[in-house]
Amino acid sequence: MTAVVGRAVVGTPTSRLDGREKVSGEARYAADWPFENPLYGVLVQSSIPSGRIDSFDLAAAESAPGVARIFTHLNAPRLVPMDSPPLGQTFLPLQSDRIDYEGQHVALVIAETLEQAQHAARLVRVVYERGPARIDFRAHLTDEIEVQGFFPADTSTGDVSAGLGGADVKIDVTYRTADRHHVPIEPSATLADWRDGKLTLYDAAQWVHGVRIAVAHVLGIPLDDVRVISKFVGGGFGCKGFVWPHQILAAMASRELGRPVKLVLSRAHTFTAHGYQTASEQRVVLGATRDGRFVAIRHHSWTPTAISDDYLETCATPARASYASGAIETRNRAVRVNRGVPTPMRAPHEGVGAVAFECALDELAYALGVDPLEMRLRNYAERDPTTGTPFSQKNLRECYRIGAERFGWARRSPVPGTMRDGDTLIGYGMAGAVMFTVRMPSTARITLHPGGDVVIETATQDIGGGQYTILPMIAADALGVPVERVRIVLGDTALPDAGGTFGSSSTMSAGSAVFTAAQELKRLLGGRRSVSQPLTAEGKFQPEHSDALSMFTFGAVFAEVHVDRDLPTPRVARITGVYSAGRIINPKTARSQIIGGMTWGIGQALLEASELDLGLGRYLSKNLAGYVVPACADVRELDVTFIEEVDEHASLLGAKGIGELGAVGVAAAIGNAIYHATGTRVRDFPIRPERLL
Ligand code: MOS
Repeated sequence: MTAVVGRAVVGTPTSRLDGREKVSGEARYAADWPFENPLYGVLVQSSIPSGRIDSFDLAAAESAPGVARIFTHLNAPRLVPMDSPPLGQTFLPLQSDRIDYEGQHVALVIAETLEQAQHAARLVRVVYERGPARIDFRAHLTDEIEVQGFFPADTSTGDVSAGLGGADVKIDVTYRTADRHHVPIEPSATLADWRDGKLTLYDAAQWVHGVRIAVAHVLGIPLDDVRVISKFVGGGFGCKGFVWPHQILAAMASRELGRPVKLVLSRAHTFTAHGYQTASEQRVVLGATRDGRFVAIRHHSWTPTAISDDYLETCATPARASYASGAIETRNRAVRVNRGVPTPMRAPHEGVGAVAFECALDELAYALGVDPLEMRLRNYAERDPTTGTPFSQKNLRECYRIGAERFGWARRSPVPGTMRDGDTLIGYGMAGAVMFTVRMPSTARITLHPGGDVVIETATQDIGGGQYTILPMIAADALGVPVERVRIVLGDTALPDAGGTFGSSSTMSAGSAVFTAAQELKRLLGGRRSVSQPLTAEGKFQPEHSDALSMFTFGAVFAEVHVDRDLPTPRVARITGVYSAGRIINPKTARSQIIGGMTWGIGQALLEASELDLGLGRYLSKNLAGYVVPACADVRELDVTFIEEVDEHASLLGAKGIGELGAVGVAAAIGNAIYHATGTRVRDFPIRPERLL
C-alpha cells in the first residue's frame, strides 16, 4: 500500500522548489496580482462592543476625492444566511444595525486609490447606541453553555469520583492561558474580479474551495460562477482556513460596482477580522497511587465564544488520549462574550489543553517524588484510554528514550532550584505531545509531457508547509523521475478538488491523491519511459474513518530554561523534540514545520497575550509592538528528531500530519522547566517575569 521508492526522493532532505520565487519577489500573494483599473476598499470598524448603529454621517466621506461608494447596512445588498463552516463567522456583515463586538465591520469605503479610500474611511462618522457588554469570560463561568465543536464537548470513561476518592495522592489545579492572535506576516487580502457574470477571487486562503462554497452561497450565485485562486499564502495558522466578512464584502462590492475591488486588511484589522485563539480556564484534577499510577483524570475547560456564533476550543482533549487511566472525564464549555468569534489557531485544542494538562501532570510527579519522565512511562497508554481501541501507530516510548538521551535528562537534579551557573538558575522540564489526525478527500491530476516534464494539478494550498516541494517529491518518487522535472500547479478551484490546508492534513490528503495519480500514470505508461502526446492520469484519496483505530501523532518535548536569580526573565536555552508522526516525506521542510511550531510554543509560554481593555472590549495593542512574538534572539537551539516509521492507516504514503504537532507540549515543557529552575509554579500563561517576582 505504501510508496514504491524509486530513486528514494521521499525521505531525502530537499530544499523548497519555490524558494527562488519567494526570495526574489516573483511569488504572487493575493494582493500582488496586477489588475487594470481596480477600486480599493477600506473597512470601517465599530468602536463599541455592543449595541446598535443609530445613524451614519457620511457627507464628508462621500464627497471626499475618489470615493466610488460607501457600503453600510443601509445600502448593502442582502446576503443569504449560512449556518455552518466554511464560514468562520455566520453573523454576516452589513446586514443590520446590530453591534456584537468591537472591530465589527460597519462600513466599506470604495475609492479609486488606496489612499483615497483610507482618507474617506477616516471621515465616516457613526453614532452608536451602546448596549450592555460582557467582555471577561472568566467573570461569567457560571453562565457556561454547551456548544457544538469539532470534537465532542464531553467524554467519560470509568468512575472518576470513585477513583479520586481512593487516590493516595491528588492534585487539583487551575491553569489559565491567554487570548492569542495568528499574526501571519501577510495580512489577509482579497482581490475580487466580477466580469461577465462570473466572479474570480484572488485570495489568501487555506482552503480555496471553502471560499468558493461560502461566497457563492451568501451571494446567491451558482458555485460554477466562482473561481478562487490562492497561489502563495504568507502564513495562515488557522485564520485563513475559514471564510470571513472581508472576503464576502470584496466580492459583493465588485458585483455592485462592476470593477475589480482590492481589499487588504491592515495589521490592526487582523486582530478582529478573522478569529483568534481563545484564552482558557482549565481545571485539572488528577489522582494517583503512591507508586505514581493514575486512578482518575478529570479535565474541565472554559473558553469564550461570540454572542451570535458558536466556537468551542476543546482544551480538555489531551486527557482523552495521552495516559492510561481507568477513569477519565473531560468537559468543555463556552461562555458568550461581546467579542469576535474565535477560530482554530496552530495548534488548536490539544495545543491549548496540553499547557494545563502536562503541567498538572508535572505537579503530580513532584508531589509523588517521581521523575516526570518516569511518571509518563508508568502511565504509558498502549491503547486509547477513552475508546479502548489500538492506536494506528504510536512510538512514543522511543520518543521519550531518544529525547531523554539527546537532551541529557539524566543530568537533571530532582530538586527544584538546585541547578545553577553563577547567578543563573537552570531548569529542565518536559512534556508529552499528542495531536489529532484529520484527512480530507482530495483529488489530483498528473500529466507526463513529451520530453519528460511532469505536471501535477491539484487545488490544495501551500501556506508555507512546503506542498510545492513535497507533492513533486511524491510524484517523482513514484514515477522514478528527478524531482526537478516535476512542476506543480495548485491553489485554484479550477483544478481537481482538494481539502483545506489545515488540521495538519495536506500531505496526507493531497499527497495521497498525487501518489494515486502517479501510480495510475505508471499503469497507463505500461513500461514506456516517454510519450509522444501528453498522457494524463487522475488520482483520488478518500480517507476511511475507522472506529476500530485511534489516530494521533505523538511527541516528547524537553526544554532547558535559564532564569536570572534577581531579574527573573526566563530564557529558553534549548528545546529537544522527538516525534512519532508517520513517514517523513521531506525531512528538511518537516524540520521547518517543527521548529516553527516550537517557536510558537515559546511565544505561548513566555510572550504572547492579546490584552483586553475590559471596559471598552477592545484589544489594547492591535499591532506587533503590543503583541509580542518570539524574535530570533528568543529562539536558540532547537533539536528535532523524527522516529522512522510508516503509518499505513493514516495515508497511502504512511505519512501523517506535522504542521501543528510541533506547537504542542512546548509551553508546558518550558513552564515545567521554569518551576524546576525556580521552585515557583506559575499557572497563568504566558509566564511573564512579573509572575516570577
Ligand atoms: Mo490549523 S489551526 O488547522 O490552520
